[in-house]
Parts: sequence; C-alpha cells; structure tokens
Amino acid sequence: MQIGVIGTGSVGKTLATKFAALGHQVHVANSRGRDAVASVFTGSSAPVIPSTSSDAFACDIVFLATPWTAVRGVLESESPQNGQILVDTTNIFLTYPPHATIDDLKGDSGSEIVARMAPMARVVKAFNTLPFETMFAPVPPDMKRVLFVAGDDEPAISTVTSLITEIGLHPVALGSLASAGRMMELGGALSTLELLAPAN
Ligand SMILES: NC(=O)c1ccc[n+]([C@@H]2O[C@H](COP(=O)([O-])OP(=O)(O)OC[C@H]3O[C@@H](n4cnc5c(N)ncnc54)[C@H](OP(=O)(O)O)[C@@H]3O)[C@@H](O)[C@H]2O)c1
Repeated sequence: MQIGVIGTGSVGKTLATKFAALGHQVHVANSRGRDAVASVFTGSSAPVIPSTSSDAFACDIVFLATPWTAVRGVLESESPQNGQILVDTTNIFLTYPPHATIDDLKGDSGSEIVARMAPMARVVKAFNTLPFETMFAPVPPDMKRVLFVAGDDEPAISTVTSLITEIGLHPVALGSLASAGRMMELGGALSTLELLAPAN
C-alpha cells in the first residue's frame, strides 16, 4: 500500500519505520524538505521515501503526525483530494508537557475540525490516546496493546484497523468521530487509557 506520513517526530518516524519494514511504500514529509526527512532516517534500515507533503497527500492513506498548532497551515495549503484516508494522530495541545496547554475547542473536537479542513478525505482518528513510548512498549507475549479507532467511514476504518493489526497492536473501533473521537481526545474517557487484550 502507498502510505504517506506528514511529520517525522516520535509518532511519524515510528509509524513510517514500521510500515516500511512491512514492505509498504512509505512517503514521508516534514516541514523542512526531503534532505531533512532523509537525515531523520539516517542509520535506519527502513526504506522510507523522503517526500514532499504533496507526494504524501497523494498516497492511499496519509498519517497526519504534526503538532495540532500546525494542522491548519498544513491542511489549508494541501490535503487529500481523492477520497484517500487521512489518519489524524494529533492531540489538541497548544504547548506540550511539562507546560501543557490544551486548545479550547468550545465543544468542537479536533478530528471533526480536521475532517472539515480536509473535506475530500475520509478521516479516521487513531494513534493519539497513548504516549508513543507506551503505545509501542513491549507487552507480554500472549497479549496485544489496545489502540482505539474512530471514524465515520466503515471501509476507511477497516483499512486502518488492518494496518494497526499488521504492526502488532489490537485495534478497537468504537464509533464516529463525533462520539468515539471525542472520547479519545485529551481529557476524554479513552485518553491515556492503557489496555491489553489477549493475542488470540
Ligand atoms: N509524542 C507522543 O507521544 C504522541 C502520542 C500520541 C499522539 N501524539 C500527537 O501526534 C502528533 C505528532 O506528535 P510527535 O510527538 O510525533 O511530533 P510533533 O513534535 O508534534 O511534530 C513534529 C513533526 O511535525 C512536522 N511538522 C510541523 N509543521 C509541519 C508542516 N507545516 N508540514 C509538514 N510537517 C510539519 C515537524 O517537521 P520538522 O521536523 O521539519 O520540524 C516534525 O517532523 C501531535 O499532534 C501529538 O500531539 C503524540
């Protein structure tokens, strides 16, 4: 599958590395261009393709892994145009811990805002409820870590849950962006909830 990743922080780099290692064609972009992307993956055996945001947004599925504060700028300049899946991994931090401040969305939710900013994409929320160190930490051999998923398009959810399974996590799709997506947001019932499920 052609996978785009926007952002080469902890989440973007980890996801790109894992998907590339599985044989997917992974186009990775950050704000500084291809050389900067390549330098992030120096020494990695993962064959990612340093790309522009345009290349990444042209892929079948695109992971948005930038700070929340960058999302508007990214999606206002470019977004998927052909019904691709856009996986929103963001959390609505204005500033990160240890001096965290959280955006006041006045009853709205981050992933619904993303969906409105990318109207030609099918938005799925995932990979945001746990710190990445926890998300990808080892688990007992007979267990898998639960990863919550929300979205409004069943085929898109199915594609994302398959990819989550491929990288060894246990997807649990709970419903729409408006309901489950809000529960996954910072301060929601599923935010930071760490669960393990039996591997079989
Ligand atoms: N870290 C975690 O534990 C964790 C866990 C779950 C969810 N999240 C959420 O996932 C998202 C990513 O977090 P993160 O910690 O991996 O990284 P981050 O520090 O939030 O994001 C850094 C990446 O975003 C890129 N970026 C910023 N503006 C951009 C633009 N206009 N175009 C393209 N790329 C741009 C940066 O590019 P440059 O490298 O060029 O500056 C950098 O690679 C955040 O919203 C975060 O809240 C994080």
